[in-house]
Amino acid sequence: MSDVFKERLFEGRTAVVTGGGSGINLRVAERFAEHGAHVALIGRTKEKLDAAVESIRSSGGSASAHPCDVREFKTMEAVMADVHASRGDIDVLVCGAAGNFPAPAAAMSSNGFKAVLDIDVLGTFNAARAAFDRLRKPGSIVINISAPQAFIPYPMQAHVCAAKAGVDMLTRTLALEWGPLGVRVVSVSPGPIDDTEGMRRLCPTDESRARVTDAMPLRSFGTRDDIANLCLFVASPAGRYITGSVLLCDGGMSLLGGGTMLGV
Ligand code: COA
Repeated sequence: MSDVFKERLFEGRTAVVTGGGSGINLRVAERFAEHGAHVALIGRTKEKLDAAVESIRSSGGSASAHPCDVREFKTMEAVMADVHASRGDIDVLVCGAAGNFPAPAAAMSSNGFKAVLDIDVLGTFNAARAAFDRLRKPGSIVINISAPQAFIPYPMQAHVCAAKAGVDMLTRTLALEWGPLGVRVVSVSPGPIDDTEGMRRLCPTDESRARVTDAMPLRSFGTRDDIANLCLFVASPAGRYITGSVLLCDGGMSLLGGGTMLGV
């Protein structure tokens, strides 16, 4: 598909993407790189980050790898300081690192629940907090990758529902506090997006995929490009008046209720 955005929107800018080594977050990072930004990728697995950086560079983009667990604040601070020292103020921070596994609440260990809360909520706070002093003011944006679980109860997703609700409230609170400084904060909430780890876990069979597409208002999965283009738009000058919003990009899935995805 030809690029719907005609101009290179982020020439000379810096974007930091947590969880940027794969999936939706990698595609978001690639889109910012395609539009001229240097993208700093944060993730736990060095090999994944190195492969992503290599691929972005081979397409003519600028990228760097920063292995780090978003749950560790001191390391996150060191990464943000590094990025700032080499690239200047951060224009875009995408908090995409997340954890998920389907499990009924009654069989979930307290530690399993905590692992997801720590990655999603604490990890998002850590990234935003560690980046704060280095964000361009005015003019930067924090994009938190959320999920429909934030406002629709899903069976087998007690941890993710609690975590993403927390992420969306963090979005709103930070938008309120940081708006006067010219820092916008939004959530982007993807529905069922093809070719992602989340979908492979939640919809592992042809049968479960068909159940989802048959029920979806738009009768299809989304693509990683759908989410990346929304992030590009909202971070661009065209999105300048949007803050504190939870932007759904879900093919209408949130209109259906939580059982659709899991067939219960
Ligand atoms: N079912 C039930 N419990 C599970 C589980 C599963 N499929 N996977 C992990 N857990 C539990 C573990 O048993 C452990 O609890 P315990 O100590 O009581 O046994 C706890 O979760 C932490 O697991 P661990 O693997 O040590 O944590 P981690 O921090 O390395 O991993 C997870 C985090 C749990 C989110 C893991 O699923 C993960 O890393 N996923 C990859 C990223 C991902 O989920 N991507 C999809 C995004 S939509």
